[in-house]
Amino acid sequence: MTTNQQNGRPEQSDRHREMHGDAHGDEQVREAAVEAALGKLDLTAKVALLAGADMWSLPADESIGLGRLVMSDGPAGVRGENWTPDDPSVSVPSPTALAASWNPELAHRTGQLLAQEARRKGAHVVLAPTVNLHRSPRGGRHFEAYSEDPLLTGEIGAAFVSGVQSGGVGTTPKHFVANDSETDRFTVDVRADERTLRELYLAPFEAIVRKASPWGLMAAYNKVNGEFMTEHQELNNGVLRGEWGFDGVLVSDWTGARDTVRDALAGMDVAMPGPATVYGEHLVRAVRDGRVPEETVDELARRVLRLAARVGLLADAPAAVPAEALPAPIDGEALAREVAAAGMVLLANDGVLPLPAGLGSVALIGAAAQEARIGGGGSAQVFPTHVVSPLAGLRAALPPTTALAHAVGADPNVHLRPLAARVEARFLGRDGAELGTTTLPDGAARWIGQLPDRLSFADLAAVEVSGSLQPGRTGTHRVGIRGVGRFVLEADGAVLFDDIVPVEGEDPAAAFLNPPERVFELELAGTAPVTLTLRHVLPEGSGFAGFGLVSFTLGHGEPVGTADELLDEAVAVAAAADVAVVVVATTEEVESEGVDRASLALPGRQDELVARVAAVNPRTVVVVNAGAPVLMPWREQVAAVLLGWFPGQEAGSALADVLTGAREPGGRLPTTWPVAEVDAPVWGVEPVDGRLTYEEGLFIGYRAWQRRDGVAPAYWFGHGLGYTDWAYEGLELRLLAPVAGDDPWAPVVEALVRIRNTGARAGREVVQLYLSPDGSDTTRPGTALAGFATVTAAPGERAEARIQLPLRAFQTWGADGWTDRPGNYRVRAGRSVADLPIGVVLEVPLQG
Ligand code: BGC
Repeated sequence: MTTNQQNGRPEQSDRHREMHGDAHGDEQVREAAVEAALGKLDLTAKVALLAGADMWSLPADESIGLGRLVMSDGPAGVRGENWTPDDPSVSVPSPTALAASWNPELAHRTGQLLAQEARRKGAHVVLAPTVNLHRSPRGGRHFEAYSEDPLLTGEIGAAFVSGVQSGGVGTTPKHFVANDSETDRFTVDVRADERTLRELYLAPFEAIVRKASPWGLMAAYNKVNGEFMTEHQELNNGVLRGEWGFDGVLVSDWTGARDTVRDALAGMDVAMPGPATVYGEHLVRAVRDGRVPEETVDELARRVLRLAARVGLLADAPAAVPAEALPAPIDGEALAREVAAAGMVLLANDGVLPLPAGLGSVALIGAAAQEARIGGGGSAQVFPTHVVSPLAGLRAALPPTTALAHAVGADPNVHLRPLAARVEARFLGRDGAELGTTTLPDGAARWIGQLPDRLSFADLAAVEVSGSLQPGRTGTHRVGIRGVGRFVLEADGAVLFDDIVPVEGEDPAAAFLNPPERVFELELAGTAPVTLTLRHVLPEGSGFAGFGLVSFTLGHGEPVGTADELLDEAVAVAAAADVAVVVVATTEEVESEGVDRASLALPGRQDELVARVAAVNPRTVVVVNAGAPVLMPWREQVAAVLLGWFPGQEAGSALADVLTGAREPGGRLPTTWPVAEVDAPVWGVEPVDGRLTYEEGLFIGYRAWQRRDGVAPAYWFGHGLGYTDWAYEGLELRLLAPVAGDDPWAPVVEALVRIRNTGARAGREVVQLYLSPDGSDTTRPGTALAGFATVTAAPGERAEARIQLPLRAFQTWGADGWTDRPGNYRVRAGRSVADLPIGVVLEVPLQG
């Protein structure tokens, strides 16, 4: 029998060491070094610490032995200072997959891997985790956040933060707070009552600050109840620092700092990126004019120095984690594969999975089967050295005697892929003279904030890329431009386009996050190479909010059949196979930073593809690669549905592990999936007159679904199948003394859940514990997750899960702040919020 520790967290003493990284003595020495350094700086020098020197770094100051501090995105890998494939990173599964593992220990190790990556890339702070909530399924950055539930988000987030920081690298849980959707994210004023903020949206931040002491935090772009978050005195100085004791650096989201005085007074320590910010000389002047007290600047600078000291960048200050205490090296490839499998959620299975050994043939269908969809779009993007596609992963895992055929079936991609060839880039000055050159691995050209070889954006007038298109076959090839500004496209010297592509939409980041595209057809006979040249003339005053930006793509697409031909081909391949595996996916346009989703339907003709394949092959397994809920109108017509999220670089290996049964699908849904769009409890993400009102209050996700009469979701929060079965055999509860006090995380109840593996395989179960108050107060959600733990057991074996419930589980927010809510609670354990086979009523005698 195996008993796993609750939520897999390290022991208290380890946690303390990981949080603070050291013994108390070191902390004192560090603080003294910070004070000494601060004392040596004049006003200008202190202010210089508070703003980016460039896109990703804070400046060094040799006079006090302060090094340059580099920050880097982010949650799914550490990109470093370059936004290009020539500076690759380990790509781990998207954060929603990590949350779906319900495994804080795995989140902790993932954090350690990212710290290792950060060190390798010279970064000191990882701009992660994203702990906004899944309020509406339309949120475009859903894939980058964890869950609709604040407790699960807080547990995974805290473990991730402590993992990164145990590697001596800082974090910035983000975006503080209420950046739960993307529409008008720079200006939207989120209106939410205080209870809703406290019990839902602030809750994960509070848990992370209290449990894992992050060294940083990122202020959101949006307003909350009328104030920009970068200027929010009450939430930043009052709640975050005053109540929760946050002693780290509050950094603005990129370009989010807008007002010198209001930002400084609200404790917004660092304005990013630089060099043009509202701090610098503006802040010096504000202090001299008496609009900002110098003590305020001291406070901000002190926190920046503390961060620098913690990450080992301040002379005479011991780093929080000394070199000898760093975690042992982690195999990034192996961990990315483990996390991907651990996060996969088996939503339905008629027994087709795991695939039996000795299959004669498998048909693998889908555009994403060949070109894996590994991550969502936007700042979370990283470039791995390699990607294992489902096709490659499955081929490697299946015995040579199993035939594997692939067909695209339906291609949902709207945009062309970057030209798959090495591309020469030339940087041109105003007079047309060549300033420098570089080579790119493909047709995607992107430089943000800095150019190769320290070329200056000020001198740059145009960039020209040129590469050889090597046609795979005769037919209609497509070549394209993605970007904004003036372009000249030539194929073997013939001009295809010479014009301006204007900006679409209002998001200032859209020019690089979601640029428009122009496509041209080229009839090519044979396979003789064609030279493509794309010259991009930078728009006047180009750049994004003060820093240089060049971003465009030279794209190419091979000839493809018509949509009907692709479908027919896939159906024929599927009909001839023993098992059909269809990989469906959302695209970069659908799930990306900067935009919300218009619809939950899979793009293109993928639904039709699944329905037609299922009609000819009863053993059809559908693999869904999406970071957020999609509609699955065919879900009851197929043999199995496996949700793979965005699985990172080891996508195909992990998928093969799970399909063949080498690993169990470890995931449980961190968010409820609807049947239809109209059923989603919260849909609207568009502000009205600039305001987005969270009028549903506490009732998002499963908290809202429970109140629905006659409308059930497709799959509830917590749901997910393994490859074995479990019986819930016992639940014992014990009140722990003292039952009340000041620490909201002090355990007040301990639950012991006894379960038994009744299946034929060893397995892992996520034991979930839910609390239901007695129902007399209808403002409280009916049932809410209160704790969870994982257990493993061999066939027939029994296992115990021990789960402690903190005081906070028995509190609500009211006019007098957090209030204990004694009384009778129904405590139930099980496998999802809607599958709770065992329960007990407990009287909790708090002080009230
Ligand atoms: C995103 C942040 C990100 C930052 C830097 C912003 O647009 O909202 O999450 O860390 O850019 O890339």
